Amino acid sequence: MLNTLDEVLDDVRARLGRAAGDRQSPMHTPVVATADADARVMVLREFAPWTLRFHTDARAPKAAVVREMPRVGVLFYDKAEKVQIRVRGTARIECDGEIAQAAWEAGDNFARRCYLGDGPGTVRDRPSSGLPETVEGIEPTDAQLVPARANFAVLLVELHEIDWFTLAHTGHRRAQFDLDTGESRWATP
Ligand SMILES: Cc1cc2nc3c(=O)[nH]c(=O)nc-3n(C[C@H](O)[C@H](O)[C@H](O)COP(=O)(O)O)c2cc1C
Repeated sequence: MLNTLDEVLDDVRARLGRAAGDRQSPMHTPVVATADADARVMVLREFAPWTLRFHTDARAPKAAVVREMPRVGVLFYDKAEKVQIRVRGTARIECDGEIAQAAWEAGDNFARRCYLGDGPGTVRDRPSSGLPETVEGIEPTDAQLVPARANFAVLLVELHEIDWFTLAHTGHRRAQFDLDTGESRWATP
């Protein structure tokens, strides 16, 4: 049982750090909600207090929404430990720049292949990965991947608010943090 707000904030920091670094973490694939009332699962790639990094396709509908309305929410849930972390932040899409370039270079060619096909949401008349037939089922070469780079983007979310909630027989607990003002408080669950 965590008894102080500082302990809870340390817990959030540790869980988000694990979520980014450990594929087995239940918080590795949070739900990212955009201001158009849409939400989707994404892989958390990095957490450096207090910014989240995700990878996405610059042509994806969510990228357009974020560019217009940057406020987002992200929901993390650990079923086994009965912990929910809800965060709100300001998001931005970056295709160029050091962060996006380093993220692109850190991936392998299978990961980069995702950005080689038609943009997410392109309507097809049959089931399709959207990938060119030449790379379907194979790892593309560096030369084949050249056009993919322009479609790759990082989604960076700078956090402003955190809501931490845990279920326990001894009593549920909830704490809230405003990272901009440094204010924090306990709340009823
Ligand atoms: C387990 C899982 C992980 C996913 N990871 C990502 C991801 O890291 N980035 C991403 O853009 N989409 C990811 N997706 C796909 C998104 O949930 C979504 O369907 C897609 O990005 C299109 O979203 P949009 O139409 O809202 O832009 C993932 C889906 C699942 C099921």
